[in-house]
Amino acid sequence: MAQRTTTLNAALAGTIDLGGDLTVKRFGFGAMRLTGQGIWGEPADREECKRVLRRALELGINFIDTADSYGPEVSERLIGETLYPYPDELVIATKGGLTRPGPGRWIPNGRPDHLRVACEGSLRRLRVQQIDLYQFHRPDPAVPFEESVGALVQLKSEGKIRHIGLSNVSTDELQRAEKLTPVVSVQNRYNVVDRSSDAVLEACSLEGLAFLPWRPVEGGELEGASGVLSEIAGRYDATPSQVALAWLLARSPVMLPIAGTSKVAHLEENLAAVALDIAPSDLQRLDTLTHTG
Ligand SMILES: NC(=O)c1ccc[n+]([C@@H]2O[C@H](COP(=O)([O-])OP(=O)(O)OC[C@H]3O[C@@H](n4cnc5c(N)ncnc54)[C@H](OP(=O)(O)O)[C@@H]3O)[C@@H](O)[C@H]2O)c1
Repeated sequence: MAQRTTTLNAALAGTIDLGGDLTVKRFGFGAMRLTGQGIWGEPADREECKRVLRRALELGINFIDTADSYGPEVSERLIGETLYPYPDELVIATKGGLTRPGPGRWIPNGRPDHLRVACEGSLRRLRVQQIDLYQFHRPDPAVPFEESVGALVQLKSEGKIRHIGLSNVSTDELQRAEKLTPVVSVQNRYNVVDRSSDAVLEACSLEGLAFLPWRPVEGGELEGASGVLSEIAGRYDATPSQVALAWLLARSPVMLPIAGTSKVAHLEENLAAVALDIAPSDLQRLDTLTHTG
């Protein structure tokens, strides 16, 4: 397994610019899993989750993605409790626009009044005056998209948000948002076996916007599968998750994976993907993969 953790650093993934004034290493940490089952309540092993956050920074990671809805509130609170006061170079991205009636349940709310309350709650829990990157979590079919984005523009004009990002959007929605405000990132589901957001990735690559693929290691489900991914992983003495992450990094210079875990061992394993040098012929074979195997 490619796990040379002593010399490993997220810097090996290179950097990406967010909005012209923030530079982050191109390997982030997704903090959704620092919660209980169904992304609800406190995590089973809170101390291990705190170790994960501290270890992420030790490994050079300087971009953390979270949301008010993770827990809800649990992930943001844990980040504040564990890492505050933050190192200067750390960029924390959060999101608003989803509410949580219970475990595993996610209800969009893109109303401007809700987004304001959500953003103010995130500011408090993260213990910051301004959120580096605030992402609209998911368009709400019950609220005109422009009204939701407009709420973020207003929060930005008040200094509560430094940069605006979108999540779970189409290319059309990206363009509509860009008519209202600069957008610095898009976060959509994307990985080696799910290319449904290829068109959005292409738009981001053309415009130089960061693309944050969520579920980058397919929720850990690539492990143990047989087929091309495992065969290639075996040849590089790597795990399928590591190869999936290396493939993402090679796919586009705007790619900023945010693999999530509640375990230090998985964090270290995932980060080791930055040192994997996959041959172009193997990357091409992975390009044609459309399902686990
Ligand atoms: N914008 C959105 O709508 C949206 C939706 C979902 C997620 N996200 C963001 O994207 C981030 C990543 O998404 P995700 O957590 O759904 O997917 P993921 O990173 O593909 O998978 C995380 C899951 O895989 C397991 N895992 C991680 N590394 C592993 C490894 N090396 N070997 C085996 N299992 C491994 C983790 O379990 P352990 O905890 O046991 O390691 C966890 O259950 C989230 O943290 C969140 O920040 C955004």
